Amino acid sequence: MISKVSKCTGLLAMAAVLATCAANTVSAQTPKIFTIKANEVKAEVAPTMWGLFFEDINQGADGGLYAELVKNRSFEFDVPGMGWKETKDKNAEGSALYQNRGNANPANRRYVQLKSESGRYGLANEGFKGMGIKQGMQYDFSILARQHEGSSGSLLVELVDEKNNVIGTASVKPTSTDWAKYNASFVARATVPKASLNVVLTEKGGMDLDMISLFPKDTWKGRKGGLRADMVQLLADMKPGFFRFPGGCIVEGRTLDERFQWKKTIGNPEDRELIINRWNVEFKHRLAPDYFQSFGLGFFEYFQLCEDIGASPLPILNAGMACQFNTAEVAPLDELQPYIQDALDLIEFANGSAQSTWGKKRAEMGHPEPFKMTMIGVGNENWGPQYIERLKVFTKAINDKYPDIKIVNSSGTDPSGDRFDYLNKELRAMNVDIIDEHYYRAPQWFLDNAGRYDDYDRKGPKVFAGEYAAQSVRIASPDNKNNWHCAMSEAAFMTGLERNADVVVMASYAPLFAHAEGWQWTPDLIWVDNLRSYGTTNYQVQKLFSLNRGTHVVPVLLDNKAVSGQDGYYASATIDRKTNELILKVVNSTAKRQSGAFVIDGAAKVQGKGSLTVLSSADLETVNSFEQPNAISPKVSQISIKNKKINLDLNPYSVNMVRVKI
Ligand code: AHR
Repeated sequence: MISKVSKCTGLLAMAAVLATCAANTVSAQTPKIFTIKANEVKAEVAPTMWGLFFEDINQGADGGLYAELVKNRSFEFDVPGMGWKETKDKNAEGSALYQNRGNANPANRRYVQLKSESGRYGLANEGFKGMGIKQGMQYDFSILARQHEGSSGSLLVELVDEKNNVIGTASVKPTSTDWAKYNASFVARATVPKASLNVVLTEKGGMDLDMISLFPKDTWKGRKGGLRADMVQLLADMKPGFFRFPGGCIVEGRTLDERFQWKKTIGNPEDRELIINRWNVEFKHRLAPDYFQSFGLGFFEYFQLCEDIGASPLPILNAGMACQFNTAEVAPLDELQPYIQDALDLIEFANGSAQSTWGKKRAEMGHPEPFKMTMIGVGNENWGPQYIERLKVFTKAINDKYPDIKIVNSSGTDPSGDRFDYLNKELRAMNVDIIDEHYYRAPQWFLDNAGRYDDYDRKGPKVFAGEYAAQSVRIASPDNKNNWHCAMSEAAFMTGLERNADVVVMASYAPLFAHAEGWQWTPDLIWVDNLRSYGTTNYQVQKLFSLNRGTHVVPVLLDNKAVSGQDGYYASATIDRKTNELILKVVNSTAKRQSGAFVIDGAAKVQGKGSLTVLSSADLETVNSFEQPNAISPKVSQISIKNKKINLDLNPYSVNMVRVKI
């Protein structure tokens, strides 16, 4: 204080100037006193509180989480040869003719008829922006094939790098003129981010080929035809409370014909009918004409993933409405039954006995035990009376048959405005279980709205903060960044969600994944390329909250009020009854270092040592990246706690979390 006061010199050091200067000095150096009421439990924190939102956007499933390396493996894209090109020796001659067997197999109509008249002739697949291949890794190739009459040759399988050097090879020899599946495995000789795959006839003859597939052996849990392990690991590391799937707008589809239909995504992969991905041409700034949904990652795999990572499954189903930003088609009310039946059958698929019609299908896929689904969503970002009319019919049917299943209901696209107000009123009048609110807003909105739920109705429906992400430029702008400004603002907002855990029972950032070359929407929680993946600054915030959830909310007060922006502080606290710890989260959203003394009231004993975890950067533009994945990452230190008081010196723009035994 003395040194600061001494700077306030000058012959005209009038009393007023001195007074101002002294006041500044006090606020910079005297810690603010906060009170934590450790024995005043305000709410239980739902185990589902911090979870994940998954959608096949940004190459999230095919070419992302689903580890298949071959694009358009069964030639079902609108252009059957998309992703494929001819490969042949200089003087070789041959042909590749796409055949359509029509309704003989509606889920898999096309295959390719490959013929060599002379020499080496075949097709090359470019993968999803190339194929990421790792040296020393085993790759498992499989194919449906049949020989042409009179042919008996082999099919050569080659992985090649960008300069056409062969980095792995195998061969299969179909033994029949009937369709059969053939497999071959080989080890790659080099690490290549953008390899491609050749399937080649080496001598005169012909073969029909379908479902040409290549997977790395190191999938998540080593499952054949499984998921990319590094991507699932990033999810598992967060210990998410729930996993929402499959979207997002993809649930609705641009048209009802293109909606997500879960029944078409289970069973043998070759019988899952491919459809266009609605993000294919949605954004002119990021056209993706080769974006389709193979459904290799289907509803069984989603449930299995939930189980693997300990997350409660939250499937969202179409409410009989196509995306209202696109065609806005609706199924007439008297033709809604198939949509409702899909919801009822899904509950049986997830939870029914292995003898029930749909439970049997789950058992046949290798999971006789139920998946313990407790919630289902009806509609994504639907709005207007047409939604409420349809929702009422769904709700009655689900409640009648499965009264224990909680229903998640859409409150539209925005957290305020006419659409929201109408739905919020209607849904509350219906006394629905859970209302799904979405907020894609500027960072400042998140800071300004940390108190959004402080005065919410405590007796009505619960809230699911179902999709949120601070947008650094504007909603869905291709220039948005996953910068620290956004992440820190989200953290401030999340203290408000946590403080109101009696109202807010689930929250998830959105979207989840983006491929560095295949994205349409930014920002996103996790970025990947063909070989690498990293969690953004926002991921670090989500993970910090999720790993440090606690079981019961207790008040943190400044001047007897919730800490929600006063002098740029945001705070929330929970008790973890399982470990007897107090968990305090404090955000300093200002550019200056600030200190705070957090006095713990109502705890008989407080341990003298605790841990402090800090995420911070003085530069709000800081981002994590492939090159610097940990630019923002948790820094953990030990702190001493005397006289039940936690003294914190808070970095500028910082998110701080203290754990201490009480
Ligand atoms: O997360 C991206 C999109 O944003 C979702 O598909 C949709 O629900 C929202 O508009």
